[in-house]
Amino acid sequence: MFESVLTQYAGKRILVTGGAGCIGSNLVRVLLQAEPEKIIIIDDLSASYEWNIPKNPNIVFIHGSILDDEKMREAFGFTPDYIFHLAAHFANQNSIDYPENDLLTNALGTLRTLRFTAKTKCTKFVYASSGCSIYGNNAPLPLTEDYVSLHLDTPYQITKLVGELYCNFYHNYYNVPVAIARYFNVFGPGEVPGLYRNVIPNFFWWAINGIPLPITGTGEETRDFTYVDDIVEGTLRMGISEEVLGEAVNLASGTETRILDLANQINEITGSNAEIEFKPSRDWDSISRRRASIEKAGKLLGYKPKIGLKTGLKRTFDWFLAKSEEIKQALAREASWVEKHARSNHSAAVPTRHGRGSDPRH
Ligand SMILES: NC(=O)c1ccc[n+]([C@@H]2O[C@H](COP(=O)([O-])OP(=O)(O)OC[C@H]3O[C@@H](n4cnc5c(N)ncnc54)[C@H](O)[C@@H]3O)[C@@H](O)[C@H]2O)c1
Repeated sequence: MFESVLTQYAGKRILVTGGAGCIGSNLVRVLLQAEPEKIIIIDDLSASYEWNIPKNPNIVFIHGSILDDEKMREAFGFTPDYIFHLAAHFANQNSIDYPENDLLTNALGTLRTLRFTAKTKCTKFVYASSGCSIYGNNAPLPLTEDYVSLHLDTPYQITKLVGELYCNFYHNYYNVPVAIARYFNVFGPGEVPGLYRNVIPNFFWWAINGIPLPITGTGEETRDFTYVDDIVEGTLRMGISEEVLGEAVNLASGTETRILDLANQINEITGSNAEIEFKPSRDWDSISRRRASIEKAGKLLGYKPKIGLKTGLKRTFDWFLAKSEEIKQALAREASWVEKHARSNHSAAVPTRHGRGSDPRH
């Protein structure tokens, strides 16, 4: 029972890096049900919005970067019992456009977070890794935890793997109680569409606005889309499980969905008649099919995804309707940011809508 998992967080102090983001904000929302003593969030809001953080007096929000030692001292000053490290420079196309920022946040940022963690007596440090990344484009399906590729396609994929390697080092050398969660194509409420965001929020935004859904490729490509509540449940199970100490575990739906089917479902849910537009694949995007094995998560954690794609998409659509004003404002802010960068840096001249910037399929 998940309730018995949640109760273990009662009265605890929990640090969530990247807690304003899509997965982090949902993690915080669920954790609040456990009545922890405090949830400390550190997030620089570089890819998220403060309104995404649930309102609660037990939440301390530190607006700052994991690369800023002073802010990290403040966060770790609360002596957290659990640390969920989700802050990241997200994701593939963003890392191609800004590889150094990617390296700084995802590699150095993870190293710094581990260094601070090593000085605590925390029960568990859970690292948000990416099964979408580290298995590369050639692994047999379903993707199992023991197959990791050294021939990765983007800086983001490389730095998510580097994060895992630092976790292993800190576990082996300093005895930090690390567990590595490998997420797959997460979606759900809390992810604002945008230049570097995933396919589902961007498809929703375009469909709601009557814009044809751009598919980069043939549409036959598949991904393992996982609803955020399932990811949160798996992550919280990892936080309390001794079985996963020092282990990497896939958290996914374990099913494959064709991008074409996804696009059709989103057009149907939103009532859009604008249909679909095919575009060439992005040059870095070489993964045609993706499906995770969730056997290990089932065995070690009792993890079993509960929310199917259709239900998850409907819930996501409801969230889009409820937050339409906030999302509009966020996108207006992003559009001016993109224009500013486009003027100062040609490599970042990426349009917000149909361009190569959005990160379909992740
Ligand atoms: N969403 C997915 O499909 C997916 C898949 C695999 C892995 N992951 C991993 O899960 C984690 C959370 O992903 P998400 O989808 O919620 O992404 P997200 O971008 O919504 O959340 C990341 C958060 O980190 C914050 N951040 C970025 N740089 C920071 C810095 N230097 N200091 C402090 N905060 C910073 C951002 O503002 C954002 O709120 C990430 O580590 C990501 O790599 C996500």
